[in-house]
Amino acid sequence: MKNWLITGVSRGLGKALAEAALARGDTVIGTVREGNPDIAQGNGAFHPLLLDVRDPKAIETAVSRAFDLVDRLDVVVNNAGYGLLGPVEAVTDTDMTRLFEVNVFGPLRVIRAVLPRLRAQRSGHIINITSIAGRAPNAGSGVYSATKAALEGLSQSLWQELRPLGIHVSAVAPGAFRTDFLTDHSIRQTSLRSEDYATSVGTIVTALRQTDGRQIGDPERCAQGILAVVDSNTPPLHLLLGSDALRRARVKLDQVIDEMDQWEQVTRSTDFP
Ligand SMILES: NC(=O)c1ccc[n+]([C@@H]2O[C@H](COP(=O)([O-])OP(=O)(O)OC[C@H]3O[C@@H](n4cnc5c(N)ncnc54)[C@H](OP(=O)(O)O)[C@@H]3O)[C@@H](O)[C@H]2O)c1
Repeated sequence: MKNWLITGVSRGLGKALAEAALARGDTVIGTVREGNPDIAQGNGAFHPLLLDVRDPKAIETAVSRAFDLVDRLDVVVNNAGYGLLGPVEAVTDTDMTRLFEVNVFGPLRVIRAVLPRLRAQRSGHIINITSIAGRAPNAGSGVYSATKAALEGLSQSLWQELRPLGIHVSAVAPGAFRTDFLTDHSIRQTSLRSEDYATSVGTIVTALRQTDGRQIGDPERCAQGILAVVDSNTPPLHLLLGSDALRRARVKLDQVIDEMDQWEQVTRSTDFP
């Protein structure tokens, strides 16, 4: 049986994952920003903690409290996050700072706070919930994509740093899942700023907002996918979840390889002879 720390279990993927782990008898310490989360306890033990991941001091307190509740943490899931739609040009300093605080600096601080104990344990698994947007961005979500790409990059380095210490790292990139992610409760949107963006950003944002409630991804199946990752002896560094994510990632990889081939001569031309 595993002990989990999961950020953002009030709703969506975090809640589904917490309930899936609890259903099989695991212990979950789950963070929420306010109130008491409505979580099905299953056969496990659930401990709610209050945490806004924008608050560095609160992260330290929450992690320390987590290690008071359990003697070791097996899985730490950086799940809390939200999206921002709109052209890159229209993103304000306040919007971009807040997004990076929640989607990047929060997870990074959680990782920093848990690592001394995970290193002492010589075990543990850090799961960073990124996004297909971090690997194959579309117009209209540039800054959100940047936060998730940052988390992907961080995960890859961490994986190399922690592997010799017996600690796993996985960056899990979901496609579109049917949660509150696209609702006004979660997602933020800037103005279009100019009609110049109507056909690129405008079209994509409208289409995206119309998929709310009809996303192909099932949060409970997402949770089962993550359970498979944490139960594996050879967990992946990168995992896509959802057939839409797979399709987008494949198209992107093909484009990268084509472009690399097309410009190979210039690429190779810059070395000292
Ligand atoms: N659903 C998708 O299609 C999709 C696709 C790719 C990636 N993701 C990623 O999956 C993760 C979970 O998203 P979701 O789909 O489950 O969305 P969601 O239903 O909107 O849930 C988001 C969760 O994050 C929490 N949260 C937001 N800001 C926070 C903060 N400052 N401090 C602490 N908690 C905070 C929310 O808490 P409150 O209830 O207090 O707001 C909520 O529990 C996110 O990182 C998201 O980027 C989702």
